[in-house]
Amino acid sequence: MLNDSSGRNPIPVPPFFVPAGTRFQSILSAELLPNGDPFQEYLVDQPDGTVLSVFHPDPGFALTSGDFRGFPLGDLGEFKIPSLWNVRHTSPYFHNGGAKTLEEVVEHYATFFAIASPLVFPDAPPILLTEQDKADLVAFLELL
Ligand code: HEM
Repeated sequence: MLNDSSGRNPIPVPPFFVPAGTRFQSILSAELLPNGDPFQEYLVDQPDGTVLSVFHPDPGFALTSGDFRGFPLGDLGEFKIPSLWNVRHTSPYFHNGGAKTLEEVVEHYATFFAIASPLVFPDAPPILLTEQDKADLVAFLELL
């Protein structure tokens, strides 16, 4: 499955409900990766004739949907969830090539989970990956 919600286990916390079949997500890969693209200004024509100024490295799916609200509410910086088959051979990673190694990918996710988990699940402890967790994830990715 290349979507992040089968409909059996959608993220249940309003307003973060992720409908079944969602194909685009933000993992803050545009904003956080040290080797990503530089921030620049996008001027977006609005239906009411005004112009929205968006300062961002790459608005991603927002350029298609028109929803320029930031993570986690809108589509700013959302990209298509890719297949991970043979991922050990497909460096560099993410839409911007911002991670050169699987270790950098997992380091990015450790940061992302630490930021995102309290926003999405405020009543649960934050998701903090240990060094063992990170090594296990790299080993798993190398098997795909
Ligand atoms: C520990 C869990 C995860 C691992 C190990 C993982 C692994 C990866 C890897 C290796 C890539 C890069 C693939 C490539 O560029 O060829 C990737 C991209 C991506 N993943 Fe994950 N992923 C995880 C969790 C998630 C979650 C929870 C979501 C959605 C909420 C997600 C959504 C995405 C998206 C949208 C991309 C593309 C981002 C971009 O191109 O900038 N991933 N993932």
